[in-house]
Amino acid sequence: MIDKLKIPFGTISITQNAKKLVNEALDSGRVSQGKMVREFERQFANLAGAKKAVAVSSGTDADIIAMAVLYDFGAKRGDEIIVPALSFVATGNAVIHAGFKPVFVDIDRNTLNIDSTKIERVITKKTRAIMPVHLMGKPADMDAINAIAKKHKLYVIEDAAEAHGAEYKGKKVGTLGDMGAYSLYLAHIISTVEGGIVVTNNLEFADIMRSLRCHGRGCKCELCILNTTSGYCTKRFQYGKNVDIRFVFERIGYSSKMNELEAAVGLGNLGIYEQILAKRRKNLLTMIKRFEKFDDYFYTIKEEKNEKIGPHAFPIILKEKTPFSRDQFVHYLEENGIETRNLFWAMPTQCPGFKYLGYRLGQFSNAEYIGYNGLHIGVHQDITDEHIDYLVKITEQFLKKSSK
Ligand SMILES: Cc1ncc(COP(=O)(O)O)c(C=O)c1O
Repeated sequence: MIDKLKIPFGTISITQNAKKLVNEALDSGRVSQGKMVREFERQFANLAGAKKAVAVSSGTDADIIAMAVLYDFGAKRGDEIIVPALSFVATGNAVIHAGFKPVFVDIDRNTLNIDSTKIERVITKKTRAIMPVHLMGKPADMDAINAIAKKHKLYVIEDAAEAHGAEYKGKKVGTLGDMGAYSLYLAHIISTVEGGIVVTNNLEFADIMRSLRCHGRGCKCELCILNTTSGYCTKRFQYGKNVDIRFVFERIGYSSKMNELEAAVGLGNLGIYEQILAKRRKNLLTMIKRFEKFDDYFYTIKEEKNEKIGPHAFPIILKEKTPFSRDQFVHYLEENGIETRNLFWAMPTQCPGFKYLGYRLGQFSNAEYIGYNGLHIGVHQDITDEHIDYLVKITEQFLKKSSK
């Protein structure tokens, strides 16, 4: 009999500093986007190794505003963006909400990421960008993706929602393409509770994103974040002396600003980022190692020499012909206090919302396989070696029972 433990899927660390900053923001009377958001953007950009970061209200909005930048550079509504068939559904939703058509490509079952050898065959005259997702923090095949993008004059927007701390050939993911979009939702390493952020080295893209997150407002300079409430702006006279720049709208925008309270939580989180990252990486790498002995039944992702996986969660995929189903395994883990999540669905064929695009089940066999056979478990900072021992023991017990 094994003593029962609980392994929740996620956690959040709200630091003392975060609490202090939240109170400061409340006391200041300025809780909508202001100086804490700017400071959070500055520190996040530094950490990501990018020149600029633009904070928004979710990771989905981060994907959306990054894509919507392309309208300033000749893209038309209805143009196409290439995305992997397997991701959290937000990736596909974001393409549609940005006004583009998602064109799906199957994934590589071993990396869980877009199969770069299948990208070129779906490029058309309407393709504007490739949006690889670094699923489970495992970097996508960025050299190949960037080479295809260069050859066909496409933009690359990385969905790095799950890839905080991931590195590819010594560079942080999120800075490998034109823009990188992160989620700051609770499940992620740096969290603002709800939130998202886009990093870029292109100052013009950053300007446009500041406009997009704020209804497409004309004034998008960093200074105006401070001064728009008073209508005072260094760029004001560009539009004429008596023009209130708060009501000049240059593009179709969104309402997706981050607020000061969220930024305060995020700043607190940045203060302990290195510790959280190290603990989560240790947990993930230990789980990968400890599960090697279950190789007849399961596989997971591997860390290659030229990369560092951003420790988002521990994915487990059933191998073919196991004497049990994913749902039986999940049920057993959950019954024993171990929370799990499915490893998403193939968006075009397993998520009904995308049916109108006309794809048929079977077209994305690898993504669909993961949809039926994958799950993931938390690797967060509150998980200890004792929890990992427990996970391994419960898995052993399940395999013994179901192989009888
Ligand atoms: C790959 C991916 N893209 C986008 C998102 C959307 O992020 P959010 O939930 O913050 O909107 C998520 C969410 O975790 C995600 O996993």
